[in-house]
Amino acid sequence: MIETTNELKKEDKKDKLVLAIETSCDETAAAVVKNGRDVLSNIIYSQIKVHTVFGGVVPEIASRKHIEKINPVITAALQDAGVSLKDIDVMAVTYGPGLVGALLVGVAEAKAIAYAAGKPLVGVHHIEGHISANYIEHKDLEPPFLCLVASGGHSHLVMVEDYGSYRIIGRTRDDAAGEAFDKVARAIGLGYPGGPKVDRLAAEGDSSAITFPRARIADAPDDFSFSGLKSAVLNYLNQCQMKEIKVNKADVAASFQQAVIDVLTDHTIAAARRLGVSKVAIAGGVAANSSLRKQMQEAATKNHMTFYHPSPIYCTDNAAMIGVAGYYEYLKGSRDGWDLNAVPNLKIGQR
Ligand code: KG4
Ligand code: ZN
Repeated sequence: MIETTNELKKEDKKDKLVLAIETSCDETAAAVVKNGRDVLSNIIYSQIKVHTVFGGVVPEIASRKHIEKINPVITAALQDAGVSLKDIDVMAVTYGPGLVGALLVGVAEAKAIAYAAGKPLVGVHHIEGHISANYIEHKDLEPPFLCLVASGGHSHLVMVEDYGSYRIIGRTRDDAAGEAFDKVARAIGLGYPGGPKVDRLAAEGDSSAITFPRARIADAPDDFSFSGLKSAVLNYLNQCQMKEIKVNKADVAASFQQAVIDVLTDHTIAAARRLGVSKVAIAGGVAANSSLRKQMQEAATKNHMTFYHPSPIYCTDNAAMIGVAGYYEYLKGSRDGWDLNAVPNLKIGQR
């Protein structure tokens, strides 16, 4: 009996290594994370080149590429971390939301490894992963904090009450912020993926050149709406074409980007003030935007709040963030069985 207790204590103190897999969209990724905070490896195979010719992600091609790349990516993650499968304590995998065929590749792979190697399996929510990316480089960051999640599929304001415990404060009523970036980029001929290209071009433009709308929803101040902004940009481009006015693409990019950033920053700071929160974070692909990071930092400082943001590599899709979220889910006691399935429309906090 005493021996068992000692064994357990020893087991509790041992470092926990999580092997994580992420295949929800067009990145095939695997990572090894120690104790939820230290990234030992972070391998990302980006499929961007494959999808660029189609102007966006083609789900069937994404799934096929994941199948082709998942094993070499996992092998590289283990090698880079200097560990082997037997050293791994927990297998974590994104099981939603995302493209169903893409998610299934990661889920099937994680189940196979966990079953064959006898490891516990933990399914992770993709957005909870994005939020958890903030823990990697901010060792001091602990809940509660307010996090703005802005990606290609989501724009949410999330109150992180505790590790693995989330309350949605606001969400987009239509397009996600990243989706708006991608659509506007396509309209001005920048191609896919739009966000980083708009970000770069905007640096050469005047953000006050064109006044685009900043949408507010009267009865829901924490919610977002970006479809009106997207339409306003398309209308502006059509008007210019009809009047044979030459479009200054850099000004369009800068003015559009400024409208998105103003809304994201204002909503986040206003919600944090109302909730009495002094820590604000950002996450998701759009969080890689250089102007958003700058404006959020300035607004947070002005309001005596501490601002947290992951490095760009941990903002866009990666498996390290899934390893972090998976670690805290594991500590909470979450375990999944061999019936774990991909859930393309998985809700935050749904388990
Ligand atoms: O989180 P993510 O990699 O994938 C999803 O979960 O959707 O986010 C991808 C989105 C795309 O819409 C992309 O255009 C946008 O994030 N994005 C950016 C930047 N980098 C990526 N948007 C604005 N500025 C950036 N630098
Ligand atoms: Zn994502």
